[in-house]
Amino acid sequence: MSGGRKPTQDQQEDVITILLVDDIREVRENIGKLLAFEADLKVVGNAETGRQGVQMAKELQPDVIIMDINMPDMDGLQATNIITKQVPTAAVIIMSVQNDPDYMRQALRAGARDFLGKSASMDDLYNTIRAVYRNHEQVRRQYAAMEQGVMEKIRNVGEPGETVGDRAGHVIAVYSPQGGTGKTTIATSLASALMREDVRVLLIDASLQFSDVGTFLNLKSQSSVVEVAQDVDDIDLELFENIVTTHDSGLKVLLGPPRPEAADPVVARPDTMGRIIEQVRNLYDFVIVDTSTRLDEMQLGIFDQASRILLVGTPTLVSVKNMRLVLDIFDKLDYEQGKTGIVLSKVVEDRRKRIPTVPVERVEGYLKVKVLAQIPAVDDRTYLSAVNKGVPLIAAERNPDRPPARQFYELATRLYNELMEIDEEEAEAIAQQKAEKQTKQKKGGLLTALFGR
Ligand SMILES: Nc1ncnc2c1ncn2[C@@H]1O[C@H](COP(=O)(O)OP(=O)(O)O)[C@@H](O)[C@H]1O
Ligand SMILES: [Mg+2]
Repeated sequence: MSGGRKPTQDQQEDVITILLVDDIREVRENIGKLLAFEADLKVVGNAETGRQGVQMAKELQPDVIIMDINMPDMDGLQATNIITKQVPTAAVIIMSVQNDPDYMRQALRAGARDFLGKSASMDDLYNTIRAVYRNHEQVRRQYAAMEQGVMEKIRNVGEPGETVGDRAGHVIAVYSPQGGTGKTTIATSLASALMREDVRVLLIDASLQFSDVGTFLNLKSQSSVVEVAQDVDDIDLELFENIVTTHDSGLKVLLGPPRPEAADPVVARPDTMGRIIEQVRNLYDFVIVDTSTRLDEMQLGIFDQASRILLVGTPTLVSVKNMRLVLDIFDKLDYEQGKTGIVLSKVVEDRRKRIPTVPVERVEGYLKVKVLAQIPAVDDRTYLSAVNKGVPLIAAERNPDRPPARQFYELATRLYNELMEIDEEEAEAIAQQKAEKQTKQKKGGLLTALFGR
């Protein structure tokens, strides 16, 4: 093994490289001795202060960092904060004498992955390190893939403006003609659900005047789509990768303008978003685009790039009527059958709901477009807790078999299968559907169609 670097994937066992950061030498030595017993745990460096810890983390790129809290010059929380941003592949475990829940909360907020008391047993120590390492796998892989493959490609770019990257580049636009239906919620959760080993996902906030992906995911960054827009005809892809922000979960996000007026240079050219997506899409397998409510030229530029448009609405009369209007426009634009799918949002199961809800079969029958997913309405507390934690709504439920996580994963799997694995048979079926669509749908009265009788 070459010093400090993680082993290659085909090696039999993973050796976890560890950096110890503690101002007390005996503590470091004791932990070092304990770790020396385990073949898969390898201490690659020792730092005495927070500042030195940050420095060594950057140089050594360890898998795991065990970090003391109280240290001179820079404390462990500050150091963790910096490391999480600058060396995102390293997972930090905070170690402290205090078992104070407040401390733990602060540690987690700083980006630490776990917490160990100094009185922890040997087994606690080993198990925590291994668990944290395993849980951080996805983030590491995303970065490894990016480092090896993508950066290489980027450096070898030929013609300016040429599409580079060898990823699938499926673009999914999330659209609704109304505000507040759940577009941003669905776009962020879908992007999160699509992330898996070896799948690169980018979330773009193209809801330009009211971008709130950053708020939802608690991402603060100096750079946004505004910087990319400056050179939209010839995007520097290496720069692009730096402008893109990384969420704690590893998700890549191109943030919208920080303030509405900052959107001006972006909206000045209505082909901006389409051009950006066109040039960067093949660096990713999936590009999820959160859009605005306007059906303007900018939006159509995005739709032109899209393999799928998810039309979001609630199962209410007004919303279904609006979706109908949008679909009529899509028809006029000659969008192929199957490009658009409906996602119903805030679906209430409870029969005693206050607003009359249009049953899903009626929605499908009336709109003649498939309902791909029904995202359940969650209670306000669940919703707020996700927003407060800065995670997509999907993370509000840890169990992927329970709502609302289940519906998001099902939608992701469905889109994944449809887009990544279309075989000939399926392609044929789509062609047939298309032919059927030509025999135009008849449009009955809205109320009868939706509620029957
Ligand atoms: N599945 C859901 N369950 C309950 N409330 C939701 C759900 N999705 C969205 N909301 C509520 O609707 C508001 C608007 O959602 P958002 O995703 O921002 O919509 P949009 O992007 O379409 O404006 C949220 O702040 C939240 O209060
Ligand atoms: Mg929104």
